[in-house]
Amino acid sequence: MTSNVERLEFAKNTAREAGALALKYFADLGSLTVRSKGVQDMATEADVNTEAVIRDAISRSYPDDGFLGEESSDSFAITDVPGTWIVDPIDGTQPFICGMRTWCISIAYYSQGKVEVGVVFDPSNDEMFAAIRGQGATLNGGPIEVADVSNVDEGLVSVGYSTRVTPADTLDPLGRLLRANGMYHRSGSGALSLAYVAAGRLIGYFEPHMCAWDMAAGELLVCEAGGRSSNALPNDQALVDGNLIVAAAAGVYDDLKAIIDGTDREL
Ligand code: IPD
Ligand code: CA
Ligand code: CA
Repeated sequence: MTSNVERLEFAKNTAREAGALALKYFADLGSLTVRSKGVQDMATEADVNTEAVIRDAISRSYPDDGFLGEESSDSFAITDVPGTWIVDPIDGTQPFICGMRTWCISIAYYSQGKVEVGVVFDPSNDEMFAAIRGQGATLNGGPIEVADVSNVDEGLVSVGYSTRVTPADTLDPLGRLLRANGMYHRSGSGALSLAYVAAGRLIGYFEPHMCAWDMAAGELLVCEAGGRSSNALPNDQALVDGNLIVAAAAGVYDDLKAIIDGTDREL
């Protein structure tokens, strides 16, 4: 039987292989064909071919497992499988296309209602964020912890947005964050931002709706680094539907959640 330690090693190796391919495309952006999937939602052959590399590796090593990847999500069905690999081949496609390096590869393994293994790899900085449920989180092999903060004014909160929600869904909580003397950050990669929360660089992340592939690995990283989250993927259906996510250093989680929920004035 495969252990989660073996799965993590596989995920890291596969993320490195995928990262090397994505970096090759990034070095020659002028030759990429950019396709619009919707408003502010792009894909290139870099996204599609990087996902194919990951999918092929998974089907060779774990032929019985399911696969949910952003670029092939149309063909995803909830089936009776031992586990499902949840993959975003390039999270941060918009910055990638614009020549900015805030993008990453995100690979997670989900089984029986829980994300068990998660890897976020930033090829530009050679940073491998990794976690196994119950075993802590690491950056390039060394342990990481969320920031030691107790107030939202003590650091940066990353905020994600997509056209799956309305501007008000983001701007209302953002306004409350600013009125609480907080400060926002947006890099264009939610997965990498969640990894940065795990590493203590950011104090929190929120987005009114994220897809499973954007957040599966990152949410596990935050929790395994001692942070807290809104448990965005509580069941199989959430893999299909996506969800709101709030994830933060433990010392500010309750306050940030109240700010997002609009109950902060009752604090
Ligand atoms: C997007 C990024 C962005 C987040 C969006 C995602 P993509 O993923 O993670 O930060 O706000 O919700 O869709 O399109 O770059 O893979
Ligand atoms: Ca994404
Ligand atoms: Ca993507």
